[in-house]
Amino acid sequence: MSISTETKPQPSPNIVSASDTGPLPLEVRDLTKQFQQGATTVMALDGVSLSVSRGEFVAIMGASGSGKSTLLNLIAGMTRPDRGQVLIDGIDIAGLKEPQLTQTRRRKIGLVFQSFNLIPTLTACDNVLLPVLSGGEPGPWSAEELLERVGLKERRQHRPDALSGGEQQRVAIARALISNPAILLADEPTGSLDSVTGQTICRLLRDLRNDLQRTVIVVTHEPAVAMWADRVVVLSDGHKVAEFATSDFSDPQALAAHYQEIVCIPAAEGVIR
Ligand SMILES: Nc1ncnc2c1ncn2[C@@H]1O[C@H](COP(=O)(O)OP(=O)(O)O)[C@@H](O)[C@H]1O
Ligand SMILES: [Mg+2]
Repeated sequence: MSISTETKPQPSPNIVSASDTGPLPLEVRDLTKQFQQGATTVMALDGVSLSVSRGEFVAIMGASGSGKSTLLNLIAGMTRPDRGQVLIDGIDIAGLKEPQLTQTRRRKIGLVFQSFNLIPTLTACDNVLLPVLSGGEPGPWSAEELLERVGLKERRQHRPDALSGGEQQRVAIARALISNPAILLADEPTGSLDSVTGQTICRLLRDLRNDLQRTVIVVTHEPAVAMWADRVVVLSDGHKVAEFATSDFSDPQALAAHYQEIVCIPAAEGVIR
């Protein structure tokens, strides 16, 4: 198994329609979350709804503070909403109590962060295995198979400090897949990588989506990353202000120009529910 060498994102329309496979992997309804910052109440997310099909790759874009991480954390069940639902494979995780919430999260969600979050004393292989060692159900792939899939077969016994940033992120992606989650969530996965390595990670996420039929949701503010997705959802001040297909754009510059037009509209004028 190897990573493809093409340099330009290609549209890949092998999305399975929801009617073929039961409930949608992700449906978010009217999601609202506010935070208290001293005397100020911040509306981090205000009535956001979103449906994602099986095998779809969605990018969530928005300026810093627009609510992207809040949305991802709510989808991951790491934060509870003030209002609204998060249906994962038809299960409303916002309504689950512990320990069902943790079990569902472990089974259904794979998480990737900007900072990789690998354990420095463990090898790449043991880092990938960690979710299983800490009580998660193993999926159909071994840690070795996943490391081979992300192009790190020869580096499986290396510890994180012997790996480059891009390699560490590939280990983190393999770790996120070990429990065979329905959805892979990535918050700025290329944020601490150079642009060439970032593109390699994007290509890997797109290939995993294609080969393993994963549903992938990536938070990013970079048009070059969003271009790899099928669809872009734009947040502004906690509102969903736009959704568009990346196939409408020939290159990241065209997507960036469209995105800039959207985020220049005041949020209240552009709200989409
Ligand atoms: N745990 C928190 N406590 C207080 N305020 C928060 C917390 N998390 C997020 N916020 C606030 O919510 C808003 C949205 O934040 P966030 O979702 O992190 O934005 P983004 O990921 O788009 O940069 C910001 O104003 C942020 O300061
Ligand atoms: Mg964020």
